[in-house]
Amino acid sequence: MFESVPDEVSIYEVSPRDGLQNEAVTVPTTRKARLIEALLASGLKRIEATSFVSPKWVPQLADADEVIGLLPKPDGVQYSALCPNAKGFERALKAGLPEIAVFISASETHNQKNVNKTVADTLAGFREFIAPAVKSGLRVRGYISTLWGCPYEGEISIESGLRIARELVREGCYQISLSDTIGVGTPRQTERIVRAYLAEFPRETLAMHMHDTRGTALANIVVGLELGITTFDASVGGLGGCPYAPGAAGNVASEDLVFMLDGMGVRTGVDLDKLWAAGQVAKALVGHDLPGKVHKAGVRSLRN
Ligand code: HMG
Ligand code: MG
Repeated sequence: MFESVPDEVSIYEVSPRDGLQNEAVTVPTTRKARLIEALLASGLKRIEATSFVSPKWVPQLADADEVIGLLPKPDGVQYSALCPNAKGFERALKAGLPEIAVFISASETHNQKNVNKTVADTLAGFREFIAPAVKSGLRVRGYISTLWGCPYEGEISIESGLRIARELVREGCYQISLSDTIGVGTPRQTERIVRAYLAEFPRETLAMHMHDTRGTALANIVVGLELGITTFDASVGGLGGCPYAPGAAGNVASEDLVFMLDGMGVRTGVDLDKLWAAGQVAKALVGHDLPGKVHKAGVRSLRN
């Protein structure tokens, strides 16, 4: 077992975006920047810093332009931000971001609730700006939501997600993040889904974005690892959730993911103690306990 697990994986940290979009409080801009600095200090290199979505829909991230302006820009760090439309792309370009992330749901109903458009119209909208974004030098990532299940429609066919993935890749997305938006995935299902994508797309063009509502995120990630996936989205403290997907609890906690990967001998470049400290910064920002099962005590000593 575990012969195919990669030696090294990349963690794509989403707490400043997926985490803070789902909080009741709106965190002051400078404190968001402080969280991102703490995440950088842990060694994370890929950070989704905010969203260029409508401030009416997600007021918690209305200060996206200011957040990007405050961030340090160390070499080798790749910031990204969610972007639903051409307006978001223009804002990202103006802010000088090197990467944007488009998002669409495999479920018609969730897509409608999340972006007020059909799947077909969302894809048509993407055609207006993904290719121009790539042409202007940005990397474009694509999320496909509700692949493991939808809060409105229940089970979603694998083919409906694959159709979207083909189009996103055709338009120029360098990576597709396969998303379990509400955390209903289980390991055999994960094997079916990930194998279906691997049959069509190279493994480095795929990522997994697992919410941990029912405690199955790490189990699903182990399946992804065994199949050779090398990018995993995570959020410190397990913060996160989609405001337009009822029942979407937090993402897999970055601390839990790094702890598991360290123990498996998979390199991440992330220092677990510093990551724990970043989680404490997040906890202070949101003003409540973190949803993830995050333990400081003994992360090092337990292993030594
Ligand atoms: P709409 O109301 O249908 O469209 O929103 P609109 O074009 O009529 O825009 C409404 C207003 O917003 C207008 O302003 C626009 O100018 C403005 P007004 O004229 O009324 O003053 N607007 C914008 N402002 C700033 N930046 C923009 C922008 N676009 C329009 N980019 C829209 C359509 C897509 C904009 C809206 O539905 C929206 O912003 N939705 C985003 C919802 C969201 O962020 N959901 C959570 C993220 S997805 C997620 O969490 C899943 C993920 O984590 C993966 C997973 O777990 O599955 C990624
Ligand atoms: Mg999410």
